[in-house]
Amino acid sequence: MAGIAIYSVKGGVGKTTLAVNLAWISATISRRKTLLWDLDASNGSGFLLGVDARKKHSAQSIFAGGGDPEKLIRKTAYPGLDLLPADESIRALDRQLGELGKKKRIAKLTAGLSRHYERIIFDCPSVLNELSAQVMRAADLVIVPLPPSPLSARAFEVVVEEVRGHGKGHPPILPVLSMLDLRRGLHKAAREANPAWPAIPLASAVELCAVEQRPVGAFAPRSSAARAMAGLWAAIEKKLASRAEDK
Ligand SMILES: Nc1ncnc2c1ncn2[C@@H]1O[C@H](COP(=O)(O)OP(=O)(O)OP(=O)(O)O)[C@@H](O)[C@H]1O
Ligand SMILES: [Mg+2]
Repeated sequence: MAGIAIYSVKGGVGKTTLAVNLAWISATISRRKTLLWDLDASNGSGFLLGVDARKKHSAQSIFAGGGDPEKLIRKTAYPGLDLLPADESIRALDRQLGELGKKKRIAKLTAGLSRHYERIIFDCPSVLNELSAQVMRAADLVIVPLPPSPLSARAFEVVVEEVRGHGKGHPPILPVLSMLDLRRGLHKAAREANPAWPAIPLASAVELCAVEQRPVGAFAPRSSAARAMAGLWAAIEKKLASRAEDK
């Protein structure tokens, strides 16, 4: 099993959109049993997949209280893709994890879930806190979407410092230029400065995911956005494979 965190300290950079699209590609094109774990209280991943949280169970009490997260898991419309949805209770989770002093709670839950899944993709909230620190510890790879702007470059440095702060054995970080519009000078310069970084174009097909409540590959498989998402997934798999060889 490999855990892939989609993370940034900046909001609205395309984390949830990437998480949903990458999880769909993992399950549908790579045919890997995949879990999309939503850790953002707004449950954006669930919305984009048209799946509601189960109201009976509260995510926070299960994650903090050591219950069975499998109770929360929902099937999606796509074979091989399950969702561990978030709900409002997640807002209290960060504080609870801090109070409990259980630094590896998320890593332990992930290890338990790895019996059933080959890929676990974490959709993280845009905050630097105990919960996000724990996700970084549980992940094998951290994807950081960066809209081309000096502010995103700063946000990237913060994430790098945060992940490196975990010392030796920290997961590798893959920056991704998100919402790239090559008609704009700043974006073109960012692309030229970082030619090796994967990029996702600014595209109305990507925006439409929220209207369709489907991943872009499901309703516009030939679009440049769908191809870019597949290219990013290939880069992720390559990075995971090279990490496995190093071990
Ligand atoms: N490549 C893209 N092209 C066009 N629009 C995009 C693209 N990626 C994301 N968006 C749009 O940008 C908005 C923010 O995206 P998203 O919710 O995925 O970001 P986020 O980082 O998860 O935000 P938050 O910090 O609120 O969780 C959404 O309206 C989404 O449709
Ligand atoms: Mg989000």
